[in-house]
Amino acid sequence: MKTTFGPQKIMFPCPTALVVTGTMERANIVTIAWVSLLASQPPTLGISVGQKGYSGREIKKNGEFTVNIASVDIMTEADFCGISSGRDTDKFRETGLTKMASKVVKSPIIKECPLNLECVLIESNIVGITNHFIGRIVETHIDTDKLADTGEYTSFDIEAIDPLIYIGGAREYRSLGDRIGDAYSAGKKLK
Ligand SMILES: Cc1cc2nc3c(=O)[nH]c(=O)nc-3n(C[C@H](O)[C@H](O)[C@H](O)COP(=O)(O)O)c2cc1C
Repeated sequence: MKTTFGPQKIMFPCPTALVVTGTMERANIVTIAWVSLLASQPPTLGISVGQKGYSGREIKKNGEFTVNIASVDIMTEADFCGISSGRDTDKFRETGLTKMASKVVKSPIIKECPLNLECVLIESNIVGITNHFIGRIVETHIDTDKLADTGEYTSFDIEAIDPLIYIGGAREYRSLGDRIGDAYSAGKKLK
């Protein structure tokens, strides 16, 4: 049996992304759970950013942004960035999060986030009441101490990264569970 609810905005799990707009001198952070990779070649992602907030206009104005994946240890700071506005709050100052210069774009990355993606805006649409921004990923940063010595970006230690997971609908944060199998492989049992 299923219970139906009509069209609802519910999705789980979601990453807790901190999207930074602006420049080193004047940067803002907005918490965004609606983020997804959209293409692999070239690496491209999409974010949904409400039209009412400060960040949407900043992204349209500057044409770039960074996506910084929060870890469990900055849950309070990440939540604060989702309940305050850059219009009247300096979120870097209030949270104590640290700006680091990006390699390619002007918007900084956040030092305390283990994964940082520099993005250039390539497309902007309005879906319903929300901006849908498509960003080409032009640089990727991962904390070196969370990488194995192989030199590959896929060698990250996800337990050390400890991503902050958001459960949309229930509005709660969680941490990662156990490793239970190999993707692109577990299903071979049924082949
Ligand atoms: C956990 C969490 C996830 C959120 N996800 C989104 C999202 O995906 N898109 C969005 O537009 N707002 C999202 N928000 C709300 C914005 O972060 C919030 O409106 C913020 O105050 C806007 O800041 P700004 O005015 O500085 O841009 C989220 C908030 C929280 C706490």
